[in-house]
Amino acid sequence: MDLKKDASKADKLEDLALRRGFFNQASEIYGGAGGLYDYGYLGTLVKRKFENTWRKHFLSEQSMFEIETTTLMPESVFVASGHIKNFLDPTTRCKGCGTIHRADHIIEEFLHETFEGLSTEKLTEIIRKHRIKCPKCKGELEDAATVNMMFPVTIGVGEGIKTYLRPETAQGVYVNFKRSFEQLRKKLPMGLALVGKAYRNEISPRNLLIRMREFTQAELQIFFDPQHIDKHEKFHDIENYKLVLYSIADRKSNTITEISCSDAVKKLHLPQFYVYYLAKIQKFYSEVLRVPKQAFRFKELNEEERAFYNKIHWDIEIFVESAGGWKECGGLHYRTDHDLSGHQKISKQDLSVNIDGRSFIPHVLELSFGVDRNIYALLDLAYREEGDRIVLSLPEAVTPFDAALFPLVNKDNIPQKAEEVKKFLKMKDLSIFYDESGSIGKRYRRMDEIGVVNCVTVDHQSLQDNTVTVRNRDTMLQTRVKIENMFRKVEF
Ligand code: ATP
Ligand code: GLY
Repeated sequence: MDLKKDASKADKLEDLALRRGFFNQASEIYGGAGGLYDYGYLGTLVKRKFENTWRKHFLSEQSMFEIETTTLMPESVFVASGHIKNFLDPTTRCKGCGTIHRADHIIEEFLHETFEGLSTEKLTEIIRKHRIKCPKCKGELEDAATVNMMFPVTIGVGEGIKTYLRPETAQGVYVNFKRSFEQLRKKLPMGLALVGKAYRNEISPRNLLIRMREFTQAELQIFFDPQHIDKHEKFHDIENYKLVLYSIADRKSNTITEISCSDAVKKLHLPQFYVYYLAKIQKFYSEVLRVPKQAFRFKELNEEERAFYNKIHWDIEIFVESAGGWKECGGLHYRTDHDLSGHQKISKQDLSVNIDGRSFIPHVLELSFGVDRNIYALLDLAYREEGDRIVLSLPEAVTPFDAALFPLVNKDNIPQKAEEVKKFLKMKDLSIFYDESGSIGKRYRRMDEIGVVNCVTVDHQSLQDNTVTVRNRDTMLQTRVKIENMFRKVEF
């Protein structure tokens, strides 16, 4: 995979984000700090919609609930989870200017290939073999080392208590498992979701929202009986559904495999329970977020690449042109009993369950998504230029507004009629952007640029026959419709 970056598209996206209010550097008036971003009014609307769309899709099944937990957690939590020992990134320091680089990224940039999960010895070997130098000053690089990515925070005064900002939302759920299990009537499978902030001291934050130091995750932890991993009660609904996979074998030929869910079980020996959620995730991207087929795949990770807690690990990848190609935007992680057993050992609390006389520690299937990374990927996929028209063809599920409403002119009772239409649309629970300034052409352009699909214009004819024009962002076609018939079939 060529990792050469299409810098011009990234610059254009950043320009649009700043100009219109999607996102900007945090604490910008003080010069900001790497990897920290704020969302403007449009970005916040898109982010909330993404999160709610995610909730609607993944939490609609029985026994799926959401909880909210603190972002500061005591050190013992991360001793138990293994993050103190294993949540490490490889680094290399320049002997000349002293800059610390992420060792695998510096190699990737030099060789235009991805490297994940290699030992520090192997990384050092590659640096030496290819004579890779510091990109800043061309100085020689030290041997690769590792650094823990968590942010320590001492709370309280005096010696205080050592805590860390959580590097993943997942641990907030695991430490609440026992209590939630009891509150939810001791049944498995049980899904607990958490949408919230995670923090990682990334060595080289980059690509805008792709690699941040503070970001939002939407994660769902499904606790289940390991004896039931080979079945899912709704598997027959998806058995013929075709998954788009990029397996370890596919990497050699750089091809994608399309395989039915039942074949994924039979031929790839993936558990049914796991495959069911691969399909659920793919449907989210293809049917809800409308990601084109050629821009989506699941990538299988090998033993070296898998996160330290995973037994089966496929990443969700989207092709993000402005960030250099395929980017991981989430993952489906079979974490086994790694976390609950770890917490049981360190907390000395019994985290086993007893179902039908059998006592065991539940296993966990984790659906993990980075909200900001997904939003950036969607913005990248949506951005296009047609002559002097910039269009953000965002899927309806995440457009900042459901519709825009324009009075053609600010006289002749048209604004009053537009108010009437606004009330009607609000009654349908649609979010509306009202714009009365500038020519209609300019107003259309402003909405195209932020992704609004439908622009409704109230004109003189509206006063006569209760109709409006609805202009579509993608086709630019205008249709005249009765006000009461508007958006009857639109689902958000
Ligand atoms: P990468 O290899 O890109 O560093 P990762 O493998 O560390 O990612 P995970 O630990 O699997 O990522 O995190 C789950 C999800 O959280 C990722 O798929 C991504 O969407 C999001 N995420 C992780 N790190 C960041 C970050 N620094 N900035 C924004 N989103 C992130
Ligand atoms: N919770 C999974 C991850 O952050 O990687």
